[in-house]
Amino acid sequence: MKDDGQILNSGMEYETVELDEEGGSIVIIDQTLLPGKMELIHLRTAQEIWDAIYLLKVRGAPAIGVTAAFGIYLLAKGIDAGDYESFYREFIKQKDYLNSARPTAVNLSWALERMERVCQENKEQGINEIKEALKREAIAIKEEDVWVCRTIGEYGLGLVKPGDGILTHCNAGQLATSKYGTATAPIYLGQEKGYHFRVFADETRPLLQGARLTAYELKAAGVDVTLICDNMSAMVMKNGWIDAVFVGCDRVAWNGDTANKIGTSLVAIAAKRHKIPFYVCAPTSTIDRRTKTGGDIHIEQRPEEEVTSMWYKERMAPEGVKVYNPAFDVTDHDLITAVVTEYGIARAPYEKAFQEIFEKKEKALEAFRENGK
Ligand code: MRU
Repeated sequence: MKDDGQILNSGMEYETVELDEEGGSIVIIDQTLLPGKMELIHLRTAQEIWDAIYLLKVRGAPAIGVTAAFGIYLLAKGIDAGDYESFYREFIKQKDYLNSARPTAVNLSWALERMERVCQENKEQGINEIKEALKREAIAIKEEDVWVCRTIGEYGLGLVKPGDGILTHCNAGQLATSKYGTATAPIYLGQEKGYHFRVFADETRPLLQGARLTAYELKAAGVDVTLICDNMSAMVMKNGWIDAVFVGCDRVAWNGDTANKIGTSLVAIAAKRHKIPFYVCAPTSTIDRRTKTGGDIHIEQRPEEEVTSMWYKERMAPEGVKVYNPAFDVTDHDLITAVVTEYGIARAPYEKAFQEIFEKKEKALEAFRENGK
């Protein structure tokens, strides 16, 4: 078991989210302390898990999904119920609570719904068997995430060439997933192959995920990374330094409109102006068939302190000023060159392309169920 507050060396030899079965906890890196301190913390209670997600100690759509899966497993494990109905009632209560932590990243509800299905499908088994099945599912969600990210990286790598300049916004990196990241996966795979990309990381106001996390993890991995303020992306594009933009996503609507970290849509607009391809790296778990367009996406609003005083020695905005702090914006599908998934690259019209991607996924899952591969 790892100790609370254990300090790790910086670098890539870490797990963003880990299950500590023996200790009855989820172990995460407290991302709010990076890059100054690489510290592991343990989450045991529903409140601790909810707070860690809400406070962005663990963040990024896939990592939130994995945390929720481990979280609901641990909470379910602690349910003391004599029959399925009372177990299921308590399970749903805990599930709904975790699901309320953040609204935009669909991976949170996606993972929790997947865990709920495990309960339903094993209804006829004993409670202990259901708990074991939940554990297997949570581990599978994490393991799949590694494969998904690596495969997105392989597809993404085919869209760029050695020496290219790549711009990214926010952190869709290893810290946001189980490994490789989504938007960073082509960068890491290129690094393995000696592609020598020049990466530009937007600092990503107001919570600075680009400066604190993307710049940190890419630098630790030896990638040539340059940090820029959010308002500099148009200039580096105009300078001819950027050949492609790769970003992650929190929810992709069925028409291709994509919610990602606030500021992403500005980057997409600038990229279009400069004729630079703009790629969204999206696990299929982040593509939401039930959300028809970007207008249907619930955008999380965050506390005003994040804009006025966090990260500053002293408050830097006048007391009482009105603040608007949406955590995400929606990039319209016509600004997106392609959506890179683990089942291939989708291009407009997105409804048709996603339909094909999901059919391919369904076939692969069927083959896996039949042959175990
Ligand atoms: O508020 P955050 O830090 O959770 O926002 C994260 C992002 O916007 C990421 O780009 C997105 O979740 C994709 S992570 C692979």
